[in-house]
Amino acid sequence: MKQLAINGGKKVRTIPFPAYVTVGEKEKQAIARVIDSGVLSRFLGAWHEDFYGGPEVKAFENEWAKYFGVKHAVAVNSATSGIYAAVGAAGINPGDEVIVSPYSMSASAVAPLIYGGIPVFADIETDYFCLSPASIEARITPLTRAIIVVDIFGQPYDADIINAIAKRHKLILIEDCAQAPGAKYKRRFAGTLADIGIFSLNYHKHIHTGEGGMVVTNDDRLAERVRLIRNHAEAVLSDKPSDTLVNMVGFNYRMTEIEAAIGRVQLKKLNRLLKSRLENIAYLKKKLFSLPCLEPAKVRPQTQPVYYVLTLKYRKRTSGVPRDRFVEAVAAELAPITLRETEGVKIGKGYTRPLYLLPLFQKRIAFGKNGYPWMKPIYSGHVSYNQGICPVAERMYEDELITLGIFQSPLIRKDLNDVIAAFQKVWEYRSELL
Ligand SMILES: Cc1ncc(COP(=O)(O)O)c(C=O)c1O
Repeated sequence: MKQLAINGGKKVRTIPFPAYVTVGEKEKQAIARVIDSGVLSRFLGAWHEDFYGGPEVKAFENEWAKYFGVKHAVAVNSATSGIYAAVGAAGINPGDEVIVSPYSMSASAVAPLIYGGIPVFADIETDYFCLSPASIEARITPLTRAIIVVDIFGQPYDADIINAIAKRHKLILIEDCAQAPGAKYKRRFAGTLADIGIFSLNYHKHIHTGEGGMVVTNDDRLAERVRLIRNHAEAVLSDKPSDTLVNMVGFNYRMTEIEAAIGRVQLKKLNRLLKSRLENIAYLKKKLFSLPCLEPAKVRPQTQPVYYVLTLKYRKRTSGVPRDRFVEAVAAELAPITLRETEGVKIGKGYTRPLYLLPLFQKRIAFGKNGYPWMKPIYSGHVSYNQGICPVAERMYEDELITLGIFQSPLIRKDLNDVIAAFQKVWEYRSELL
């Protein structure tokens, strides 16, 4: 008789894992406070004292800036908006090249296009999956203006080396720290390591406001430009003096008072949530990495990652079973997380297909049908989006990386033991998969 659930055997776990809900009474009280005030948003898209938003937004920004030890925090309605605003604030021109990661959520690679910039993909590191300094250097051309680094999976990028590269080549450095609130590099917070950083507050993240984001920087000018882009820049610039009109076509990236009020409570919970997340991850790591087919996920020296997901490197040669088959078998042993049933069991094969393989890049169709911004005379360079340009990202996607997302509070040891048991069982009966 077959043992593995994927072959009709008994599952390790049939009961869904407890819901990952971090909001409760305190958030309810915060929302009630806003409703009682009658002010759900106070932004005005004109040069006015309300141009910078209402009391909850301002308080949230101040509290965020204080926690992360940074001069400016600018609340936005998503990290996507925040990255777009950061690229605009950085002064990217049509035809400028911006080095991006192929191994991220699409927004951090697509952002340059909003301003006519050309995303140029550099490869990732084999151990930490952030942008590789050597690959960045190899991609720099006279057209390069900026780099968007990503603290992927909650692990800070190689800040000392990449910051030095950016400085040497006079490039603006944008840090997508959507997955890394509270991560540290040499005692400095991720998000504050580059010229400007962007956090996500969407509901998948460590703390959240449903949807939302926060842009942080110590640079007064960048901060002010982000605030302008957030709120219809063009409409205010006749009344508010500005040294340039470049990229001052604005958007509505404003955060509501309710989101900000929730965010203020969530920020207070960050330390506690990180602590339980890190304890659970340490437990999982200890048990899972005794399996010969899983390689310990490395941690960059002198950093504290915050594990958006736990990454596992799969040794196909040791196991004999293709990664995807192995992952499918583990998933079949488990149940989904309550309230996230539609996402299936949270074990991923390879994270994301390298982003340059998206049709957008393959066909070079972004805005309009004529190939803007890649066409001449806008762009005079020669970017490649061919398969093979980032071999490490391709390898991780195709057969090496496994991502595990079942460890968040309020999971207890019993839940984690089920996850471990699923992996152990599939390892033990792997011959059934051949
Ligand atoms: C690395 C990264 N960047 C950007 C984003 C975009 O965040 P948001 O959903 O807040 O726009 C995400 C969201 O998952 C992300 O993981």
